[in-house]
Amino acid sequence: METKRIAVIRGDGIGPEIVTQAVAVLERAADRFGLSLAFDEAEMGGCAIDRCGQSLPEASLQTCLRADAVLLGAVGGPRWDGVPKENRPESALLRLRSALGLYANLRPARLMPQLADASPLAPAVTARGVDFVVVRELIGGIYFGEHRTETVDGQPVATDVMRYSRGEIERIARTAFETARRRRKHVTSVDKSNVLDCSRLWRATVDAVAAAYPDVTVRHMLVDNCAMQIVRDPSQFDVVLTENMFGDILSDEASMVTGSIGILPSASLGAGSRGLYEPIHGSAPDIAGTDAADPIGTILSAAMLLRYSLDAPEAADAVEAAVAAVLDQGFRTADICPAGQTPVGCAELGRRIADAV
Ligand code: IPM
Ligand code: MG
Repeated sequence: METKRIAVIRGDGIGPEIVTQAVAVLERAADRFGLSLAFDEAEMGGCAIDRCGQSLPEASLQTCLRADAVLLGAVGGPRWDGVPKENRPESALLRLRSALGLYANLRPARLMPQLADASPLAPAVTARGVDFVVVRELIGGIYFGEHRTETVDGQPVATDVMRYSRGEIERIARTAFETARRRRKHVTSVDKSNVLDCSRLWRATVDAVAAAYPDVTVRHMLVDNCAMQIVRDPSQFDVVLTENMFGDILSDEASMVTGSIGILPSASLGAGSRGLYEPIHGSAPDIAGTDAADPIGTILSAAMLLRYSLDAPEAADAVEAAVAAVLDQGFRTADICPAGQTPVGCAELGRRIADAV
């Protein structure tokens, strides 16, 4: 049996705690489904700055490039706010995504029936169902355009360039249409075409790609309207296709609709099967080391890793079912625990999910 190599980046804040639980779940799934997994630790983020001065050491990048998949907790924290921007923990993450060619970021937002009460939306709204996926372009746009601060007429002036080529838009649009084909066949492409050239090119390119997918319906929506529609009636969305920064913002909004930012996973994919899997939340330094973090976002990211990079859909299904089973039994970390009920810790929830796989 071929051994699959998984690069493990624990990172900062709650990262190590949640990754420990996700690795345990992967080991359990590997046992149960006869997979051979090897885990290679790679250091990245603030912890790497502290140890060797570099947020993304070359050795870590090489470990990820050699791997079949990368599992990541979270990086960054106020401790490293003063670090020069090229070496910030966040810039390590952006460099890693770019070096691995991971242009497609899939962020599913599904309100699990067990957590219907955790959504801040009115029950009448969530009753129509929340089950959509944000397909976010990940290695272009304003994140990767020129960034510059200079002095003009005696005052500081900052510039950040948003730039997209047709090819960059085409490939992410295809990912969205392919994703929609496996779902309810409806793409909402989100832009700001009433203001931005990038968005006008985006719209025209999405329409051109859509011609190859006559079975999928497509509509365009301005990003401000989309932000409103996500809380007004999230049931209208199936696949939300958008550029890098809009996708960053809308996916955080989407996560709240599903109850907690702690439970949403993500997959970042490129042309091959190698992917990077991480929860969409950050390093939560305020609760780091207290065993209060929710491991579900990372565990569900591990399920996506099994599905997309290891071609192990049964194992992925089993992990997702284990999460649902443990929630059915009533166990919750503090972020999704109803008032009056006692939350369990990160380690206990993770152990229960691993046992249920
Ligand atoms: C995310 C994060 C990152 C992003 C940060 C940490 C650079 O917010 O994955 O959504 O903006 O892409
Ligand atoms: Mg974000």
